[in-house]
Amino acid sequence: MTKRIFQAIVIITVLGMITPRGYSQEHPASKDSLNRKWWKEAIVYQIYPRSFKDNNGDGIGDLKGIISKLDYIKSLGIDVVWLNPIYSSPNDDNGYDVSDYRNIMKDFGTMDDFDALLKGLHDRGIKLVMDLVVNHSSDEHEWFKQSRSSRTNPYRDYYHWWNAEQGKPPYRYSLFDVNHDAWRYDSLTNAYYLHYFSRKQPDLNWENPKVRTEVFDMMKFWADKGIDGFRLDAFQFAAKDTTFPGFPPGFEKHFSKYYAMQGNLHGYLQEMNKEVLSKYNVMSVAEGAGNTPEDAHNLVDADRHELNMAYAFEGVDIAKRGGYSLLHFKEVFSRWHSTFAEKGWLSIFLANHDQARLVSRFGNDSPQFREASAKMLATFLMTMRGTPYYYNGDELGMTNAGFDKIGDFRDVQTLNEYKHQQSIGADMSKYMHQIAFESRDNARTPFQWDGTANAGFTTGTPWIQVNKNYTSINASAEEKDPNSVLNYFRKIVKFRKDNLVLVYGKYKLLDKDNPDTYSYTRELDGKKLLVMLNFTNKNAATHTGIDMGKTKMLIGNYEHPSDNDTLRAYEAVIFELK
Ligand code: GLC
Ligand code: CA
Repeated sequence: MTKRIFQAIVIITVLGMITPRGYSQEHPASKDSLNRKWWKEAIVYQIYPRSFKDNNGDGIGDLKGIISKLDYIKSLGIDVVWLNPIYSSPNDDNGYDVSDYRNIMKDFGTMDDFDALLKGLHDRGIKLVMDLVVNHSSDEHEWFKQSRSSRTNPYRDYYHWWNAEQGKPPYRYSLFDVNHDAWRYDSLTNAYYLHYFSRKQPDLNWENPKVRTEVFDMMKFWADKGIDGFRLDAFQFAAKDTTFPGFPPGFEKHFSKYYAMQGNLHGYLQEMNKEVLSKYNVMSVAEGAGNTPEDAHNLVDADRHELNMAYAFEGVDIAKRGGYSLLHFKEVFSRWHSTFAEKGWLSIFLANHDQARLVSRFGNDSPQFREASAKMLATFLMTMRGTPYYYNGDELGMTNAGFDKIGDFRDVQTLNEYKHQQSIGADMSKYMHQIAFESRDNARTPFQWDGTANAGFTTGTPWIQVNKNYTSINASAEEKDPNSVLNYFRKIVKFRKDNLVLVYGKYKLLDKDNPDTYSYTRELDGKKLLVMLNFTNKNAATHTGIDMGKTKMLIGNYEHPSDNDTLRAYEAVIFELK
């Protein structure tokens, strides 16, 4: 090789190295320019263990129950399971109040069961992401027991205390407290402790380096067992200004502005990344992502070495009791997409254990349209850029609980708010209407396995009632029906897995002002897919400007999908552009 050719190769190589990774509007995505990661290409299936499958007849779902359904989970085609908390807990908030981070909740089983579950998932090529609940612990955690025992206890600074001789602390809003007061007076040491959630969920003091070390060691304990990721519960609230300045009156209506992304939050995340996350092949996702796409971006910009992906609420928050505007929906998803088009990574979801059911909230759960709309929403979630999260039961098109008596509800938030509303003399029938649509319990009724008693969830009495529609909506019936929501879910999951363009491809919104349909293209390496979704219960025309003669229909949620630009009620179709 002559010296000149060698120099040219060096220059070309160096230029190649400094060319920005990622892609821009002008340069459509190309496979070679992608920073490929397993967690970007994964589809996450969320399991709420308490309601998934009961193995011992006590009415509560458990780890052995999940193990007995591993083949079903595998059959979905998903890659990752995210388990809601399974650690020891007195269950004030169904496991989001942890009393021992290194043990398994008695209701759910033993550490041996956990090891068997992890192995069972890994044997099937499925990864496991665990909830990490460290904005707060349970008040029954040993740390808190020590902390409250005396002002001089070495654990005192594990939590936030305000000594009563200083007077009442500046008001802090609590999401779950009966009085919405986040300071709880404890006469034992004549002081108040802080709890953003319920009284039984005292907030940990992240300013204390000992707390951080304890948490990082505990994360290593689970990572060493071989788990594949952490979902950081409510972590956006973990850092506080511990001088506790007064907030303006009425701040609670926008509490996230005052609570999220405060103080040294990014510093703590960088430390967590350095001490734990960077040392394992694990994915990390933050629940809540601040107040703007920019906040979210700062959590997951790879150059900052914090977390992998953001899980932002603006999209899921759009649906209200009276419905929602598709124009708003499109605007929000397109805006979030554009902030993450170059850098960072998003989660794509419309439901979880804190929301009402996907089809009841974003689709149409009437018998006529339930199936079509559930499939249409699955098509949306599986064709956006970002990692899709699907909540257990939504793959069947399970619907809201239909509870109309307060005694049917179990959720601490729903029940405490009921007491609060009562105490202020509110119109309780209005509140009952509200929770019928909004309560988190809507998504927590037992998984509907079959048409036998209690939907095959338990042989005992379920901890929360089974939805009455289980005789018609259940996995066993859907298995047998090739056109069921379940079988469409499997098809659209496989379609995403087979089309890398749906993971990384450039997204472009079409027909922006159409209030009835959502159309977009995804493009990668010359391959271009067109997705068209009708969000209404009537025929709707799209005006994408694309010559439909030059397209090929690939998949749709109707038995005979549309091959043109008019869609039937809740129709979803994907075309390839020739
Ligand atoms: C998160 C969880 C929710 C829980 C809360 C307190 O928002 O998703 O279920 O109640 O944090 O841990
Ligand atoms: Ca059980």
